[in-house]
Amino acid sequence: MDKLQIDTIIQTVENLPLKQAFAYLEAHFPNAIVFSTSLGLEDQVLTDILSAQEIKIHIFTLDTGRLFSETYDLLDKTIAYYKQPIQVFFPEAPRVEAYTAEKGINAFYESVENRKECCAIRKIAPLTRALSGAKVWVTGLRADQSANRKNMPLMAWDEEKQIFKYNPLINWTTEALSDYINQHNVPLNPLHKKGFPSIGCAPCTRAITADEDPRAGRWWWETSHKECGLHQSTGNS
Ligand code: ADX
Ligand code: SF4
Repeated sequence: MDKLQIDTIIQTVENLPLKQAFAYLEAHFPNAIVFSTSLGLEDQVLTDILSAQEIKIHIFTLDTGRLFSETYDLLDKTIAYYKQPIQVFFPEAPRVEAYTAEKGINAFYESVENRKECCAIRKIAPLTRALSGAKVWVTGLRADQSANRKNMPLMAWDEEKQIFKYNPLINWTTEALSDYINQHNVPLNPLHKKGFPSIGCAPCTRAITADEDPRAGRWWWETSHKECGLHQSTGNS
Protein backbone atom coordinates (compact mmCIF):
# COMPACT_ATOMS: atom_id res chain seq x y z
CA MET A 1 0.00 0.00 0.00
CA ASP A 2 1.47 3.40 -0.94
CA LYS A 3 1.60 6.45 1.31
CA LEU A 4 -1.19 8.26 -0.52
CA GLN A 5 -3.57 5.34 -0.09
CA ILE A 6 -2.63 5.03 3.57
CA ASP A 7 -3.15 8.75 4.22
CA THR A 8 -6.49 8.76 2.37
CA ILE A 9 -7.81 5.87 4.44
CA ILE A 10 -6.64 7.43 7.71
CA GLN A 11 -8.11 10.84 6.87
CA THR A 12 -11.42 9.31 5.80
CA VAL A 13 -11.72 7.34 9.03
CA GLU A 14 -10.82 10.43 11.07
CA ASN A 15 -13.71 12.30 9.52
CA LEU A 16 -16.43 9.68 9.85
CA PRO A 17 -18.63 8.70 12.80
CA LEU A 18 -17.76 5.29 14.22
CA LYS A 19 -20.37 3.19 12.42
CA GLN A 20 -19.59 4.71 9.04
CA ALA A 21 -15.87 4.42 9.69
CA PHE A 22 -16.23 0.70 10.28
CA ALA A 23 -18.46 0.35 7.20
CA TYR A 24 -15.85 2.15 5.09
CA LEU A 25 -13.06 -0.08 6.45
CA GLU A 26 -15.13 -3.23 5.92
CA ALA A 27 -15.75 -2.20 2.30
CA HIS A 28 -11.99 -1.76 1.79
CA PHE A 29 -10.85 -4.74 3.83
CA PRO A 30 -13.67 -7.32 3.91
CA ASN A 31 -13.41 -9.74 6.84
CA ALA A 32 -9.99 -8.35 7.72
CA ILE A 33 -10.86 -6.17 10.74
CA VAL A 34 -10.01 -7.64 14.14
CA PHE A 35 -10.47 -6.27 17.64
CA SER A 36 -8.14 -7.37 20.45
CA THR A 37 -9.88 -7.33 23.81
CA SER A 38 -8.16 -7.70 27.17
CA LEU A 39 -11.64 -7.42 28.76
CA GLY A 40 -10.45 -4.25 30.50
CA LEU A 41 -12.69 -1.20 30.98
CA GLU A 42 -12.07 0.34 27.56
CA ASP A 43 -12.37 -2.96 25.72
CA GLN A 44 -15.66 -3.76 27.44
CA VAL A 45 -17.02 -0.33 26.49
CA LEU A 46 -15.90 -0.85 22.90
CA THR A 47 -17.48 -4.31 22.81
CA ASP A 48 -20.71 -2.73 24.08
CA ILE A 49 -20.60 0.01 21.42
CA LEU A 50 -19.91 -2.50 18.63
CA SER A 51 -22.85 -4.59 19.80
CA ALA A 52 -25.22 -1.61 20.19
CA GLN A 53 -24.33 -0.25 16.75
CA GLU A 54 -24.41 -3.71 15.16
CA ILE A 55 -20.84 -3.44 13.94
CA LYS A 56 -19.77 -7.01 13.24
CA ILE A 57 -16.04 -7.62 13.46
CA HIS A 58 -13.90 -10.50 14.65
CA ILE A 59 -12.93 -10.27 18.33
CA PHE A 60 -10.07 -12.10 19.98
CA THR A 61 -8.27 -12.19 23.32
CA LEU A 62 -4.78 -13.32 24.28
CA ASP A 63 -4.83 -15.81 27.12
CA THR A 64 -1.31 -15.68 28.53
CA GLY A 65 -2.07 -18.52 30.94
CA ARG A 66 -1.44 -16.12 33.84
CA LEU A 67 -4.65 -14.07 33.87
CA PHE A 68 -6.78 -13.43 36.96
CA SER A 69 -9.61 -15.92 37.49
CA GLU A 70 -11.95 -12.88 37.45
CA THR A 71 -10.81 -12.18 33.88
CA TYR A 72 -11.64 -15.72 32.75
CA ASP A 73 -15.09 -15.38 34.38
CA LEU A 74 -15.61 -12.09 32.59
CA LEU A 75 -14.63 -13.64 29.26
CA ASP A 76 -17.39 -16.23 29.66
CA LYS A 77 -19.88 -13.64 30.82
CA THR A 78 -19.09 -11.24 27.96
CA ILE A 79 -19.49 -13.92 25.28
CA ALA A 80 -22.87 -14.92 26.76
CA TYR A 81 -24.10 -11.36 27.32
CA TYR A 82 -23.33 -10.02 23.85
CA LYS A 83 -23.85 -13.37 22.07
CA GLN A 84 -20.55 -12.56 20.43
CA PRO A 85 -17.76 -15.12 19.98
CA ILE A 86 -14.33 -14.09 21.29
CA GLN A 87 -11.53 -16.21 19.90
CA VAL A 88 -8.87 -17.17 22.44
CA PHE A 89 -5.22 -17.30 21.40
CA PHE A 90 -2.74 -19.20 23.59
CA PRO A 91 1.05 -19.12 23.71
CA GLU A 92 2.96 -22.00 22.15
CA ALA A 93 3.38 -24.68 24.81
CA PRO A 94 6.97 -25.70 23.87
CA ARG A 95 8.18 -22.09 24.22
CA VAL A 96 6.48 -21.63 27.61
CA GLU A 97 7.86 -24.97 28.79
CA ALA A 98 11.41 -24.19 27.67
CA TYR A 99 11.35 -20.73 29.29
CA THR A 100 9.93 -22.09 32.52
CA ALA A 101 12.39 -25.00 32.66
CA GLU A 102 15.35 -22.71 32.07
CA LYS A 103 14.37 -19.68 34.15
CA GLY A 104 11.54 -20.60 36.51
CA ILE A 105 7.79 -20.05 36.67
CA ASN A 106 8.02 -16.45 37.97
CA ALA A 107 11.29 -15.42 36.28
CA PHE A 108 9.81 -12.07 35.17
CA TYR A 109 10.48 -10.63 38.65
CA GLU A 110 14.23 -11.21 38.27
CA SER A 111 15.04 -8.87 35.37
CA VAL A 112 13.44 -6.65 32.73
CA GLU A 113 14.98 -8.96 30.13
CA ASN A 114 13.22 -12.00 31.61
CA ARG A 115 9.98 -10.06 31.84
CA LYS A 116 10.14 -8.95 28.22
CA GLU A 117 10.91 -12.51 27.12
CA CYS A 118 7.86 -13.79 29.01
CA CYS A 119 5.68 -11.10 27.37
CA ALA A 120 7.20 -11.98 23.98
CA ILE A 121 6.27 -15.64 24.41
CA ARG A 122 2.93 -15.26 26.14
CA LYS A 123 1.59 -12.11 24.42
CA ILE A 124 3.51 -10.92 21.37
CA ALA A 125 3.84 -14.25 19.55
CA PRO A 126 0.12 -15.08 19.98
CA LEU A 127 -0.73 -11.51 18.91
CA THR A 128 1.26 -12.01 15.71
CA ARG A 129 -0.76 -15.15 14.97
CA ALA A 130 -4.02 -13.41 15.84
CA LEU A 131 -3.26 -10.52 13.47
CA SER A 132 -2.10 -12.64 10.56
CA GLY A 133 -4.25 -11.93 7.52
CA ALA A 134 -5.88 -8.89 9.17
CA LYS A 135 -5.61 -5.42 7.68
CA VAL A 136 -7.13 -3.40 10.55
CA TRP A 137 -6.29 -3.98 14.21
CA VAL A 138 -8.80 -2.35 16.56
CA THR A 139 -7.77 -1.65 20.17
CA GLY A 140 -9.18 0.04 23.26
CA LEU A 141 -6.15 2.28 23.77
CA ARG A 142 -6.77 5.73 25.25
CA ALA A 143 -4.36 8.67 25.23
CA ASP A 144 -5.25 9.46 28.86
CA GLN A 145 -3.96 6.10 30.05
CA SER A 146 -0.30 7.07 30.23
CA ALA A 147 2.39 9.45 29.04
CA ASN A 148 3.48 6.81 26.51
CA ARG A 149 0.05 6.88 24.91
CA LYS A 150 -0.75 10.57 24.96
CA ASN A 151 0.37 11.21 21.37
CA MET A 152 -1.15 8.10 19.85
CA PRO A 153 -3.42 8.88 16.90
CA LEU A 154 -6.93 7.62 16.21
CA MET A 155 -5.56 5.56 13.38
CA ALA A 156 -2.04 4.80 12.17
CA TRP A 157 -0.30 2.55 9.68
CA ASP A 158 2.04 0.10 11.39
CA GLU A 159 4.78 -0.44 8.84
CA GLU A 160 6.39 -3.32 10.71
CA LYS A 161 3.17 -5.28 11.09
CA GLN A 162 1.74 -4.02 7.76
CA ILE A 163 -1.58 -3.26 9.40
CA PHE A 164 -3.75 -0.25 10.25
CA LYS A 165 -4.10 0.22 13.97
CA TYR A 166 -7.43 1.81 14.83
CA ASN A 167 -8.05 3.11 18.35
CA PRO A 168 -11.67 4.38 18.37
CA LEU A 169 -11.54 5.44 22.04
CA ILE A 170 -8.17 7.18 21.80
CA ASN A 171 -9.59 10.62 22.67
CA TRP A 172 -12.06 9.46 25.31
CA THR A 173 -11.38 10.99 28.71
CA THR A 174 -11.57 8.92 31.87
CA GLU A 175 -14.79 10.81 32.72
CA ALA A 176 -16.37 9.97 29.35
CA LEU A 177 -15.51 6.32 29.93
CA SER A 178 -17.06 6.36 33.43
CA ASP A 179 -20.16 8.14 32.13
CA TYR A 180 -20.65 5.51 29.42
CA ILE A 181 -20.24 2.70 31.94
CA ASN A 182 -22.73 4.33 34.34
CA GLN A 183 -25.29 4.79 31.59
CA HIS A 184 -25.00 1.29 30.10
CA ASN A 185 -25.07 -2.13 31.59
CA VAL A 186 -21.49 -3.05 30.67
CA PRO A 187 -20.17 -6.27 32.25
CA LEU A 188 -16.96 -5.40 34.08
CA ASN A 189 -14.16 -7.10 35.91
CA PRO A 190 -14.93 -6.91 39.68
CA LEU A 191 -11.23 -6.15 40.27
CA HIS A 192 -11.76 -2.59 38.97
CA LYS A 193 -13.69 -1.80 42.16
CA LYS A 194 -10.84 -3.21 44.22
CA GLY A 195 -8.27 -0.70 43.00
CA PHE A 196 -7.26 -2.19 39.66
CA PRO A 197 -7.92 0.38 36.89
CA SER A 198 -5.61 -1.49 34.49
CA ILE A 199 -5.59 -5.29 34.50
CA GLY A 200 -3.06 -7.58 32.88
CA CYS A 201 -1.52 -10.84 34.07
CA ALA A 202 -2.13 -11.67 37.74
CA PRO A 203 1.51 -11.86 38.88
CA CYS A 204 2.30 -8.59 37.10
CA THR A 205 -0.65 -6.44 38.23
CA ARG A 206 -1.36 -5.04 41.68
CA ALA A 207 -4.00 -2.67 43.07
CA ILE A 208 -3.09 1.03 43.24
CA THR A 209 -3.79 3.72 45.81
CA ALA A 210 -5.81 6.87 45.01
CA ASP A 211 -2.72 9.02 44.51
CA GLU A 212 -0.97 6.63 42.11
CA ASP A 213 -0.83 6.70 38.33
CA PRO A 214 -3.48 4.36 36.80
CA ARG A 215 -0.74 2.16 35.30
CA ALA A 216 1.39 2.09 38.46
CA GLY A 217 0.06 -1.38 39.27
CA ARG A 218 1.40 -2.92 36.03
CA TRP A 219 4.91 -4.45 36.39
CA TRP A 220 5.05 -2.42 39.62
CA TRP A 221 8.52 -3.64 40.59
CA GLU A 222 10.02 -2.05 37.45
CA THR A 223 10.91 1.62 37.12
CA SER A 224 11.12 1.61 33.30
CA HIS A 225 8.07 2.59 31.25
CA LYS A 226 5.16 0.24 31.76
CA GLU A 227 4.52 -1.38 28.40
CA CYS A 228 4.79 -5.02 27.41
CA GLY A 229 5.57 -4.49 23.74
CA LEU A 230 2.07 -5.07 22.35
CA HIS A 231 1.89 -1.40 21.42
CA GLN A 232 5.43 -0.43 20.59
CA SER A 233 6.04 -0.90 16.90
CA THR A 234 4.04 2.16 15.79
CA GLY A 235 6.72 4.31 17.38
CA ASN A 236 4.13 6.04 19.50
CA SER A 237 4.12 4.10 22.73
S1 ADX B 1 -0.80 -3.63 27.80
O1 ADX B 1 0.08 -3.50 26.63
O2 ADX B 1 -0.44 -2.76 28.92
O3 ADX B 1 -1.01 -5.02 28.21
P1 ADX B 1 -3.46 -2.63 28.07
O4 ADX B 1 -3.82 -3.61 29.12
O5 ADX B 1 -3.27 -1.21 28.49
O6 ADX B 1 -2.16 -3.11 27.25
O7 ADX B 1 -4.50 -2.71 26.91
C1 ADX B 1 -4.40 -1.86 25.76
C2 ADX B 1 -4.99 -2.57 24.57
O8 ADX B 1 -4.15 -3.68 24.22
C3 ADX B 1 -6.35 -3.18 24.82
O9 ADX B 1 -7.37 -2.23 24.56
C4 ADX B 1 -6.37 -4.34 23.86
O10 ADX B 1 -6.74 -3.92 22.57
C5 ADX B 1 -4.92 -4.78 23.83
N1 ADX B 1 -4.66 -5.88 24.78
C6 ADX B 1 -3.96 -5.84 25.93
N2 ADX B 1 -3.92 -7.03 26.55
C7 ADX B 1 -4.62 -7.88 25.74
C8 ADX B 1 -4.97 -9.26 25.79
N3 ADX B 1 -4.59 -10.05 26.81
N4 ADX B 1 -5.70 -9.78 24.79
C9 ADX B 1 -6.08 -9.00 23.75
N5 ADX B 1 -5.80 -7.71 23.64
C10 ADX B 1 -5.08 -7.14 24.61
FE1 SF4 C 1 4.55 -12.85 31.57
FE2 SF4 C 1 3.90 -10.91 33.30
FE3 SF4 C 1 4.20 -10.38 30.65
FE4 SF4 C 1 2.09 -11.79 31.60
S1 SF4 C 1 2.59 -9.59 31.97
S2 SF4 C 1 3.27 -12.25 29.79
S3 SF4 C 1 3.08 -13.01 33.22
S4 SF4 C 1 5.78 -11.03 32.13
